[in-house]
Amino acid sequence: RPVSLIGAPTDIGAGHLGARLGPEALRIAGLAQALVARGVDVADRGNLDGPRNPWQPPSEGYRHLPEVVEWNRLVMEASLAELRQGRMPVLLGGDHCLGLGSITAVARHCRETGKKLRVLWLDAHADFNTSDVTPSGNVHGMPVACLCGLGPRELTHLGGDAPAMRPDEIRQIGIRSVDEGEKRLVKEHGLDVYDMRYIDEVGMKRAMEEALDGMDENTHLHVSFDVDFLDPGIAPGVGTTVPGGPDYREAQLVMEMIADSGRMASLDIMELNPVIDTRNVTAEVAVDLVESLFGKSTLMRD
Ligand code: ARG
Ligand code: MN
Ligand code: MN
Ligand code: MN
Repeated sequence: RPVSLIGAPTDIGAGHLGARLGPEALRIAGLAQALVARGVDVADRGNLDGPRNPWQPPSEGYRHLPEVVEWNRLVMEASLAELRQGRMPVLLGGDHCLGLGSITAVARHCRETGKKLRVLWLDAHADFNTSDVTPSGNVHGMPVACLCGLGPRELTHLGGDAPAMRPDEIRQIGIRSVDEGEKRLVKEHGLDVYDMRYIDEVGMKRAMEEALDGMDENTHLHVSFDVDFLDPGIAPGVGTTVPGGPDYREAQLVMEMIADSGRMASLDIMELNPVIDTRNVTAEVAVDLVESLFGKSTLMRD
């Protein structure tokens, strides 16, 4: 299916400035050309234009809530427009608070078309904080909670109904940094978390088989790829690096197994921060991995 690239140049939900430059860094690393080389029909819709980052301390547990709401509204509308045209939205972040707008659009589209929703959340973090337990007030640590109905009304009801998604519709892979109060909430809501300890013990292959299990022809698979999912050794260009992530081969396997499932219908590429990166290597790794998501295999198969 044809792909539409949507740039969301903002760091409105992050604790470091610079993710606003992510969309351009991904373009410069050759994202569109790589997809065209895979035989994909690609349209670059350019960048959304939202409010500037006022860079303020938290107010009532949130930093920049009105601006976060506005950016997410823009992302939701742009993504929904592409989905309704039968296209695959690929969101170029921007920080991960925008996963809320992107997945709210996908969830609405699934309701409209009678599809089942499956979200794969590739991340070092669970992003399941609320204003009561957040250590930072940064909304990029909260989108999964908001999608499940925990959060301020403006965010939980972005798509009209709340919650956008049930906890049993998401699988989180690569998790290795969860805050204390957040951990309690994750357990309480029964999220399916494939953390690094589990991946070390059973291997990435089995973890991914389990995470992808139970999908069928009627499933819309959304992949939300926070680049800090990757080990900082291969992906230094993110604001919140956490040691002990998947290495290059493990990450390739994740992407290849998603491609093999044949179900991916929307994608976020988030948290890339070129200000922190070295010669755009992290954008280049992200593009390599996205090629695998679109079926490029490093093996001698097919
Ligand atoms: N758990 C931390 C917080 O809530 C970090 C969240 C990082 N999230 C991300 N999308 N990079 O502040
Ligand atoms: Mn993260
Ligand atoms: Mn994240
Ligand atoms: Mn390994």
